[in-house]
Amino acid sequence: MAIKYIPEPFRIKMVETIKMLTPEEREQKIAEAKYNLFNLRGEDCYIDLLTDSGTNAMSQEQWAGVMRGDEAYAGANSYFKLVEAGQDIFGYKHIQPVHQGRAAEKVLFGLLMGEGKFSISNMHFDTTRAHVELAGARAIDCVVAEAGDPSIRAPFKGNMDLEKLEQIINERGAENIGLVIMTITNNSAGGQPVSVENVRETSKICKKYGIKFCIDAARYAENAYFVKQREAGYENKSIKEIIKEIFGYADMFTMSAKKDTIVNMGGLLGIKEDDDLFQAIKGRTICFEGFITYGGLSGRDLEALAIGLYEGLDENYLRYRIGQMEYLASRLDDAGIAYQAPVGGHGVFIDARAMFPHIPYYEFPGQALAIELYKEAGIRTCDIGSYMLGNDPDTGKQLEAEFDFTRLAIPRRVYTQAHIDVMADALIAIKERASSIKGYRITWEPPVLRHFQAHLAPLDK
Ligand code: F0G
Repeated sequence: MAIKYIPEPFRIKMVETIKMLTPEEREQKIAEAKYNLFNLRGEDCYIDLLTDSGTNAMSQEQWAGVMRGDEAYAGANSYFKLVEAGQDIFGYKHIQPVHQGRAAEKVLFGLLMGEGKFSISNMHFDTTRAHVELAGARAIDCVVAEAGDPSIRAPFKGNMDLEKLEQIINERGAENIGLVIMTITNNSAGGQPVSVENVRETSKICKKYGIKFCIDAARYAENAYFVKQREAGYENKSIKEIIKEIFGYADMFTMSAKKDTIVNMGGLLGIKEDDDLFQAIKGRTICFEGFITYGGLSGRDLEALAIGLYEGLDENYLRYRIGQMEYLASRLDDAGIAYQAPVGGHGVFIDARAMFPHIPYYEFPGQALAIELYKEAGIRTCDIGSYMLGNDPDTGKQLEAEFDFTRLAIPRRVYTQAHIDVMADALIAIKERASSIKGYRITWEPPVLRHFQAHLAPLDK
């Protein structure tokens, strides 16, 4: 029996019409898109779950903030409001706005990484990995083993494997580790949370070896909500207190603000206390993003972001938000559809290998399910698996991802229970004809981040 859906803690003031194409039209659109869902037009998708990034619905307070945005090139009010909000929530001395998460990575990584260096993370997001590689270094993932088994229900499947972390540091040499990065929540492992204890222990290891510790903070508020629900000793702490403690263990953070701060564009870089590093960051920000008091954003974006930083911490909102995922997951449980369990914070990651045991990783089961969801119900999702992972940068060989997921990333405050039911019904219909679904091959691919642009073709056997 599906669990109760937690009613939305808001009402709707403005609507956007969406349309459903016919099955024949969808077949044609996806073929024209070369079976790459990034090539579809947004208007051809009935429910767009490609990402939870920048697809959020802003509140009336944020829209009012847009009107108040101060567009001064230097020293805008909106900048100071944002910096004060960041200092208040994270407890860091330096807060630098940038235009999105990967911009923060670009500005920071070039200062800490280069040829012969390594970055170790509980899991690098794809752009994070790309920026490590562009800086000349190599990225090593170090997530706990239970993350690799979607059927194991553990409370903190996003955690760093602490033993393995120390082993990698010793093997590669502490002086060669540019950065240890903790991604909260762990997106690539299925939006899985990381415990405060695991952050604390990782921080101790970094201190022991003199390595800098960075948080990839895209979904820090959802992570804090899970901590409050699941970690002993945190049930009576506020979301803000939990966040302060987590960030207190790190030296710096990069953040895509397009997720938990519920805006459409923005990013942040935070430095706890290192004035020299921040000085260098300011120089690179001016080169890559624009003057330090706007960092690639309009004043109105800075203002909406400052407001969103607080809205994202509201517990009523977080209960509904995580409740939406739990409702969808419970419908999948009823239907025997496997996903990364327990469900994560920003979406449901369907175990495409379990759905299509006859499709090997190099024929991209996660992508096959994403295409099928579009054909079935006009739902746009994406592969988080071998198709996304790509080829080894040194050998050029297709890598086998730890898992092959199809991610239904749920935009914040956008879809209703009825939409969630459409998602569940579509997955159930696909499961019924799963054995007839074929894999795909790549007919063209660019050298980096290929999944955004590659062309595919269906296999006929
Ligand atoms: N880190 C994590 C954990 C992310 O999930 C993302 C983006 C980034 C960094 C990069 O941030 O997009 O603002 O430049 N994730 C989006 C997603 C795109 O769909 O998961 P960005």
